[in-house]
Amino acid sequence: MKLPAKVKLVDVGPRDGLQNEKQPVPAAVKIELVHRLQDAGLKNIEVTSFVSPKWVPQMADNAEVMAGIQRQPGVCYSVLTPNMQGFEAALGAQPDEIVVFGAASEAFSQRNINCSIAESIERFRPVVEAARAKGIHVRGAMSCTVGCPYEGEIAPARVEMLARLMKDIGVQHVGVADTIGVGTPLKVQRALEATLRHFDINDISGHFHDTYGQALANTLASLELGVWQFDTSVAGLGGCPYAKGATGNVATEDVVYLLHGMDIETGIDLDKLIDAGKFISDFLGRPPGSRAATALLNKRAA
Ligand code: HMG
Ligand code: MG
Repeated sequence: MKLPAKVKLVDVGPRDGLQNEKQPVPAAVKIELVHRLQDAGLKNIEVTSFVSPKWVPQMADNAEVMAGIQRQPGVCYSVLTPNMQGFEAALGAQPDEIVVFGAASEAFSQRNINCSIAESIERFRPVVEAARAKGIHVRGAMSCTVGCPYEGEIAPARVEMLARLMKDIGVQHVGVADTIGVGTPLKVQRALEATLRHFDINDISGHFHDTYGQALANTLASLELGVWQFDTSVAGLGGCPYAKGATGNVATEDVVYLLHGMDIETGIDLDKLIDAGKFISDFLGRPPGSRAATALLNKRAA
């Protein structure tokens, strides 16, 4: 088994992590979280999304959050943009990367972005073109690549189709998402292999929610295929308001613990990352949703 020597983690905590929180999280707290993540060594942070505030009220402060961040050189700050309106609003915030987000399931596409898969691609097309013309990197998120909260199991052929459509419109990198965390290693590998028919191994990442406790196993299964980029969420925050019952992304702390334990480099300082997770968890009034963070915090307290 030949595993990658180095892994790139995108912390999606400020976006995926907080978008589903019912209680208001002030922009200042989100900004502080981003600062703590970059201080911990994260070089890729998904900060916010330029979506409709009626659909996702928690992200309504997108411009304020982006404007409040003291950027560090070498850090890539990404934002979600579902359509031209979102992209144009995002431009003022000067993101390094934008994310268009589609789904391998028709029903989820309708619930999440109010259009069919085909319509979503037509909405993304001008966004991708405009972003690339400006030199902004374009990532595509592919939801429900293993299972859908409305349609159940999703066949790899659906994933392959979505990957092909994303490739055709110029998306540079795709994230293979298990939105509701139902995937198990072999199913996740099938979804990744379907994606690999259209994207290079260096242009694919894994995005695993941990609803059923499979996300670390799915991460390892991805590493075995050579995938070396993952979206993770500090303190295991996260969930999508349109995927009821889905819990957070795999905790960044747990993935860092796993990788460092296998001598795979991340560039991340686990102690500082745990502090970042503790900061946001304290604000939200609950313990961090990371087993590694919990264990190491207990050890510190002892
Ligand atoms: P729509 O209602 O079909 O849009 O929503 P519309 O074009 O018909 O416009 C309706 C209204 O929305 C208008 O306002 C527009 O101005 C406004 P009104 O005239 O009624 O006052 N509007 C916008 N406002 C702000 N920013 C925009 C924007 N676009 C239209 N960009 C839309 C379509 C896509 C906007 C909506 O469905 C939406 O915002 N959906 C976002 C849902 C979302 O953010 N979900 C979570 C992120 S995805 C995720 O978490 C999955 C991921 O983590 C991977 C995984 O785990 O699977 C990435
Ligand atoms: Mg997600």
